[in-house]
Amino acid sequence: MNPVALPILITIDGPAASGKGTLARNLGAMYQLQWLDSGLIYRALAFELAEHSWGSLTAHEQYALLSRLKEPSVLDNPRLRLDAAAAHASRIAQDASLRQSLLPLQREMAYHPPPPLRGTIMDGRDIGTVVLPEAPYKIYLTADPTARAKRRNKELQKRGTSATLTSVLADIEQRDHNDRERTTAPLTKAENSIVIDSSQLSIQQMTQQACQKLQQKGLLKPRQR
Ligand code: C5P
Repeated sequence: MNPVALPILITIDGPAASGKGTLARNLGAMYQLQWLDSGLIYRALAFELAEHSWGSLTAHEQYALLSRLKEPSVLDNPRLRLDAAAAHASRIAQDASLRQSLLPLQREMAYHPPPPLRGTIMDGRDIGTVVLPEAPYKIYLTADPTARAKRRNKELQKRGTSATLTSVLADIEQRDHNDRERTTAPLTKAENSIVIDSSQLSIQQMTQQACQKLQQKGLLKPRQR
C-alpha cells in the first residue's frame, strides 16, 4: 500500500494587525501552500448572520450557512475587509457553539489544498491551539499595539478611509480584549510555537526570520529538496 502523503500544515496565530496575512501570503508562495485566512471565515459568517444570532437559527439553517462559506464568492466580498466587519466578527466569535460548528469546515479546507499545492498555511487566533493542534509548524506573530495601529491606519489611509490613530488603536485594543479574554479558544501561544515580534521588523525581515526558524524545524523550501 502507498503511504498517504499528508499536506504540510503551518499555523500562524496572533493579535489583529500583527502581520499574519502578509506573512501567510509570503510563506504560502515560497512553500507552495494554499493560504486560508480564518478571520475572513468569521467575517463572512458575521456578514451572513446579519442581525441573527447563531443560536437563533435551526440546525438546518446553520448547515446551509456553513455550506455557503465554501463558495469562493462569499469570501471575496470586499465589504468583509471593512473594520465594521472585523468588529462584528470579533463579537460573534465569542459564541462557543458557533466556533465548534466551524471546526470541521476549517479542518476540511486545511486538509484539502487544491493540487498542485503541497499543503496549507492557515492564520487566525486559535489555529495552532484548537483547529490544527497537530500541525508540525506553528508561528505566533505579535507586535505592540501602537505599531499595529500605525500599520492599520496607513492601510486605511491608502484605501481612502478616514480614521484617527486613536480610534484605530481603541478598536485594536477592544479586539485584543475580546480575543484574549473569551472562554472558548482564546488567543494564546501554542506550545512549541516559533515566536516572532514584528514591531520593529520590515516585511522582508519578518519573512526571513520565519523561513530561518521553519528551516531549523526541518521545513525546506521546495527548490532546496
Ligand atoms: O483575523 P481577522 O482580524 O480578520 O479576524 C476578525 C475577527 O474574527 C477577530 O478579531 C477574531 O475575534 C475573530 N477570529 C477568531 N478566531 C480566528 C480568526 C478570527 O476568533 N481563528
